[in-house]
Amino acid sequence: MIDVKLAPAHRRFRADVLAGLALPRKRLPSKYFYDAAGSRLFERITELPEYYPTRTELGIMRRHADAMAARCGPDCLLIELGAGALTKVRLLLDRLDAPAGFAPVDVSGEHLREAAAVLAEDYPALAIEPVVADFTGPFQVPEAPDARKVVYFPGSTLGNFDPEEADALLRRIARLVGPGGGLLLGVDLRKDPAVLERAYDDAAGVTAAFNRNLLVRIDRELGGDFDAPSFRHVAFYDPEKSRVEMHLVTDVARRVRVGTSTFAFLPGESIHTENSHKYDVPELAARAEACGLRLDEAWTDPRDYFAVLYFTAA
Ligand code: SAH
Ligand code: AVI
Repeated sequence: MIDVKLAPAHRRFRADVLAGLALPRKRLPSKYFYDAAGSRLFERITELPEYYPTRTELGIMRRHADAMAARCGPDCLLIELGAGALTKVRLLLDRLDAPAGFAPVDVSGEHLREAAAVLAEDYPALAIEPVVADFTGPFQVPEAPDARKVVYFPGSTLGNFDPEEADALLRRIARLVGPGGGLLLGVDLRKDPAVLERAYDDAAGVTAAFNRNLLVRIDRELGGDFDAPSFRHVAFYDPEKSRVEMHLVTDVARRVRVGTSTFAFLPGESIHTENSHKYDVPELAARAEACGLRLDEAWTDPRDYFAVLYFTAA
């Protein structure tokens, strides 16, 4: 009965959490980090000295924004996936030739609406249509029948998906933009594991708070008793899978309640909360090609830490 009254997003959150905690290796989807508090914590991460991706990608964008905007072309409809604070896209919007519109898509509704309102003040002539949605499911983009569609997908958010999911997402993007449409994609590259591990386990503990926020959310929204501070933040690089994994670990045996369900934890048991895959450009280009996206141009930074890639849909 209660279910009938719950909004679909809330029902889905509860179903995903209960299913993830029932797995032999407990796992929770990283998209649930991002409520309003999680989005604010992510913004703090982007300013940390250890978290190089945001400032490196911004540097690449600043140096090459003219070429990127030229690739997007005139009158395009720009769709941004995992839009966040809408900082990077300004570098493109400043240079695009008469864009038909801008549709930022994000699950973090309150944060998206606030960021879109600030953007609207700075770009009064731009048709901005924020879309609060999970971009792995169906979502509506504005009607612009004559405009070329270009998806902007920065931040290496693609890396938070497992390879099969990432391929499905790339195929979806190719379908969304249609033949001749574009994808401007930011991805984090492979590098010294020590650099990677520092970026995901900063000295100030902001990433740990971001990770634990998932449990804070479950306790508040789903009636849980995790007690987030009692779980330890763990982040490590797995060179075989080319990914940083984040976990939340309990050092003691315990039982945790979520609503009417209970989950047992052994001492040292973890909940796997995020993967952040690190890429190699030729390998990614080959995978994207198999998903219907041809690489046209790649821009990197002097250390080859990060890449921004422009693809055209076949
Ligand atoms: N693009 C920004 C933010 C990256 S953080 C940047 O480059 O800095 C990842 C963003 O993607 C968050 O704002 C989060 O809310 C959003 N996000 C993650 N998974 C999502 C999903 N499945 N659907 C929609 N948005 C998602
Ligand atoms: C959004 N995403 C690409 C970030 C990343 O680096 O994987 C999220 C994040 N997790 C920990 N720090 C930042």
